[in-house]
Amino acid sequence: MRIDRFQMEREQSLYENDVDYNLSESGVLPISINELIEGVADPDEILSLDLKYAPSNGSPQLREHVATFYEGATADNVLASNGSSEANFVSMWALLEKGDRVACMVPNYMQTWGLGRHFGSASDTYRLVELREGGRARWALDIASFERAVTRKTRLIVVTNPNNPTGAVLTEEEMDIIVRAARRVNAWILSDEVYRGAELSGSLSPTFWNRYDKVLVVSGLSKAFGMPGLRLGWIIAPPATVQKIWSYQDYTTLTPNVLSDKLATIAMEPGKRKQLLARTHSILNRNLPRLEEWIRGYGEIFSYIRPVAGAITTVRYSLPITPRSLFNRLRLERSVLLTVGPHHGLGRYIRIGYGYDLDRTLEGLTRVGEFIEELQRGPARKVKTTRAAAAHRTGVRAQA
Ligand SMILES: Cc1ncc(COP(=O)(O)O)c(C=O)c1O
Repeated sequence: MRIDRFQMEREQSLYENDVDYNLSESGVLPISINELIEGVADPDEILSLDLKYAPSNGSPQLREHVATFYEGATADNVLASNGSSEANFVSMWALLEKGDRVACMVPNYMQTWGLGRHFGSASDTYRLVELREGGRARWALDIASFERAVTRKTRLIVVTNPNNPTGAVLTEEEMDIIVRAARRVNAWILSDEVYRGAELSGSLSPTFWNRYDKVLVVSGLSKAFGMPGLRLGWIIAPPATVQKIWSYQDYTTLTPNVLSDKLATIAMEPGKRKQLLARTHSILNRNLPRLEEWIRGYGEIFSYIRPVAGAITTVRYSLPITPRSLFNRLRLERSVLLTVGPHHGLGRYIRIGYGYDLDRTLEGLTRVGEFIEELQRGPARKVKTTRAAAAHRTGVRAQA
């Protein structure tokens, strides 16, 4: 079977360990095992774990703890997986037949778009668009493109909420529009909610769970919980659908890793979960204002909409360079890795991850700034930057 190249993942795989500054991460700074288990588990308990197979759908205690993140769910609604990427993969493999069409949100993490084309027959995109009204700007559901994308052949509607790369969260009205359309054509909704829990406000974004009987939620510990290395994700679905998807997982990785299952059980215990999300909340709120100061320094070039959730933000740029060339030149000439619009189904945008060490991120962005200024200088044009950008350029850190 031929597959499309998953451009963003491929290029991250190739380059993320070679650059001085990797600004392409989308989660918060990973936590250590010590920090995770402190006060809640004995290190010896972890060290003496037998390296056997874990229960293949996830241990009962893990599934119980995960279920408490979704009102009304029980362990029977949960299937553990190796990352939310595997959860997306097996769900779409199990649900789609040739001839089925998928309505897929764009911009996005393009995995689900690619899987729709290969397990079904096509991915019809609908868009989030920049909406500016009453002095406020947000990424909003483009209802016209959504209504076009959902037809009687649509078997699955994919939503990524909170969204990657914009950090946008759908309003209740937009969620209702999506549910109504799914009901009308009898389609499933697959809601990838891996950024839920990383809201700047500290209030959990609404989930699609419980809004309709054919909803499948995908999530995991990689982003809002700061544990991408555990490779622990899950699917929340009606019990019969969990059973069906589980039988597809028998053909992939069989079981979660036993150590990850144990650590994820600790992480998803409601008290601990609250602590972990409070940590995320404080990282996001500490870092974003400093990043925004850098962005404001290039106010004439960047158009920016504040993210609602996720340790990522996406800015539109107006510069005489294609996103692909910007991506390559930043990597090769400045040793900085970012993702750019086309990685997410967008045009002249860059996505900046701000959940890691922000001093380091700003050092990387200083290089991006130097590149921008060089580009702007061009043959005749004069560089025009504000004081904040000049401060970053000379290495003086702006006040948080
Ligand atoms: C929306 C979305 N879903 C799924 C994934 C995959 O994450 P993981 O497999 O680490 O849980 C990502 C990774 O960036 C993502 O952004």
